Amino acid sequence: MPQMISHMAESPPPTFAEYAAELQPQVDAALSVRSELPDGCPAVLREAIRYSLLGPGKRLRPMLVLLAARACGGSTPAAIPAACAVEMFHAYSLIHDDLPAMDDDDLRRGRPACHKKFGEAMAILAGDALVTMAFGVLAEEIEPPRVAAACCAALAEAGGPRGMVGGQADDLAEKDANAGVDLLESIHHRKTGAIIGVSLRLGALVAAADDRQCSALAQYGRRLGLAFQITDDLLDVRSDEQTAGKRVGKDRERGKLTFPGLFGVEKSTARAEQLLREACEALAPFGPQAAGLEALARYVLERSR
Ligand code: IPE
Ligand code: IPE
Ligand code: MG
Ligand code: MG
Ligand code: MG
Repeated sequence: MPQMISHMAESPPPTFAEYAAELQPQVDAALSVRSELPDGCPAVLREAIRYSLLGPGKRLRPMLVLLAARACGGSTPAAIPAACAVEMFHAYSLIHDDLPAMDDDDLRRGRPACHKKFGEAMAILAGDALVTMAFGVLAEEIEPPRVAAACCAALAEAGGPRGMVGGQADDLAEKDANAGVDLLESIHHRKTGAIIGVSLRLGALVAAADDRQCSALAQYGRRLGLAFQITDDLLDVRSDEQTAGKRVGKDRERGKLTFPGLFGVEKSTARAEQLLREACEALAPFGPQAAGLEALARYVLERSR
């Protein structure tokens, strides 16, 4: 049976689902322990924090931390605190993104948004708590202190006014009728790409990566980050609420600047495909150690939520 033998010899590369099955339970357990907050935190605030942090998200950013560390020869346990920090920061960004003053979305991860379940004030505070918890985990758990400080600085830059928060501000601003692809890409790079990029950066920092590895990861991350938000925009056009776990068709209603809005579904899909191919090309220096990051890029293209 030559066909079978050749198939067995060239076993397909591991899928994202296989990496997820290995890593996501570790991430969830680590997030749960770090959000127990046994003393001093009001019960309702703890509940709101855990509701949003431990809800059924894809955990892509912590996976990026762990897979980047692995690509650079680092260990998973050493990268777990950084993986928790980026997911805490991400959970905060989603809570605030859904607020009535921002995107005014009532559904997140297939469940009521945090402010729908706990009220606006508690949702704002749960978001505030998650930001500070993210920096606390980095500062307290990453060794040596020099690397912890570098991680804090990297997250502050990526998540701050020149990164995610700035991108969100421009995303909400009235759009100039002539706004074009440069502004669109700049918003996507900041509101979404920056946190994806810093996830890889933290993985590299805890693994003591060299300059060549850091620059390869930065190239991969910039392409992946843009492609990820293009596919998010595409889901808003093409998916349904049940599958996506969030309301769809709202970007157009709100006049958001999006890829499908400017270029249509077909061209946007082609752009995402091209970016993800280029993202994987940037991983060449790592060889097979970056198989997880490659699988993640393939998943971003195929994802339905
Ligand atoms: C949604 O991110 C917000 C964007 C940056 C587009 P994800 O699609 O990663 O959300 P979860 O964490 O899986 O819910
Ligand atoms: C969100 O972009 C980016 C964030 C920083 C949270 P979107 O507003 O498109 O994300 P969804 O579609 O609500 O998840
Ligand atoms: Mg938004
Ligand atoms: Mg939104
Ligand atoms: Mg969206």
